[in-house]
Amino acid sequence: MKNMKSLGLLFQDGKLLVLDQQKLPHEEVWLTCESPEQMIQLIQALKIRGAPLIGVGAALALAAYAEKGASRAKILDAALALRIARPTAVNLMAAVDRVVLNCVKGDLTVSGILSRAEAIFDEDVVLCDTIACHGELLIEDGDGVLTHCNAGGLATAGIGTALGIIRRAHEKGRKFHVFVDETRPLLQGARLTAWELSQFGIPYTLICDSMSAMLMRQGRIQKVFVGADRIARNGDFANKIGTYTVALAARYHQVSFYVAAPYTTVDLACPDGSAIPIEERTPDEVRAGNSPAGCSVYNPAFDVTPAELVSAHVLDRGVVRLRDGAKLEDFSSRCT
Ligand code: MRU
Repeated sequence: MKNMKSLGLLFQDGKLLVLDQQKLPHEEVWLTCESPEQMIQLIQALKIRGAPLIGVGAALALAAYAEKGASRAKILDAALALRIARPTAVNLMAAVDRVVLNCVKGDLTVSGILSRAEAIFDEDVVLCDTIACHGELLIEDGDGVLTHCNAGGLATAGIGTALGIIRRAHEKGRKFHVFVDETRPLLQGARLTAWELSQFGIPYTLICDSMSAMLMRQGRIQKVFVGADRIARNGDFANKIGTYTVALAARYHQVSFYVAAPYTTVDLACPDGSAIPIEERTPDEVRAGNSPAGCSVYNPAFDVTPAELVSAHVLDRGVVRLRDGAKLEDFSSRCT
């Protein structure tokens, strides 16, 4: 397989490496991924994370496995296990299906698997760019822009989705300020989005998740940009827990609320948000050593924001305004 590099993933000289996102921002540790089972562990531990990137990582792990000579039966078993490593981001299932599971027997050659995995990586780079092209036009001089979780280069093979838009607007010389929700319980905003924004010299302020409504009331936030793990046919979408609360506050304060994602995040087979499976994670992530040992905890990793709270869906094929009668199915096929 050819060499490939993104902010959080590296395939070089036959080796697959993952930047340990649990160690950021304090340490930049690259972990070698030797097998699909190890990729499953890395995905479940959120060492590699973000909807598009876990799809890319799974695809590359399968390709590296095929390149090492794994049998067809072992590759199929590994694909089935990777597919369910996390349940919410549809990009993971779509990537595994595309590389292995949807292929007819004759297509399951090593070279076929390798070229499809490479194509998924390359395509994600292009998808991020096209999303940024459409989305950056929505950011104006003087805006206060809020983002939640991390939908940047660490979550994709390219420049990111929501954060890619922010980065592109900055590169175009737009003067605006970013507010970053810290994103409890795992602090993807405080640790990862803040790290990315620092790297690119984009002015930002970190806030607690509970502060954004007050900033909206003060007139300091004009626009919200978030990513998605799965967008249902009717436009409802799942994203990091807390996104729905932000969307409600945005609606009350008449702040524009945008969700950005590639077509690989749109699941037309999912009629609405109630059909999106929501991952529940260990109570210890919420307790975080601060609560009485063993106290009762509820820890859904994602919530669903209803389409009616979304000003527009920014996809690789354009800005979709469902309120104006547009339909996601007209925008959710491959653009590259
Ligand atoms: O649990 P995580 O960190 O994988 O959650 C990630 C998100 O919620 C992102 O916003 C989403 O995957 C979009 S990434 C472009």
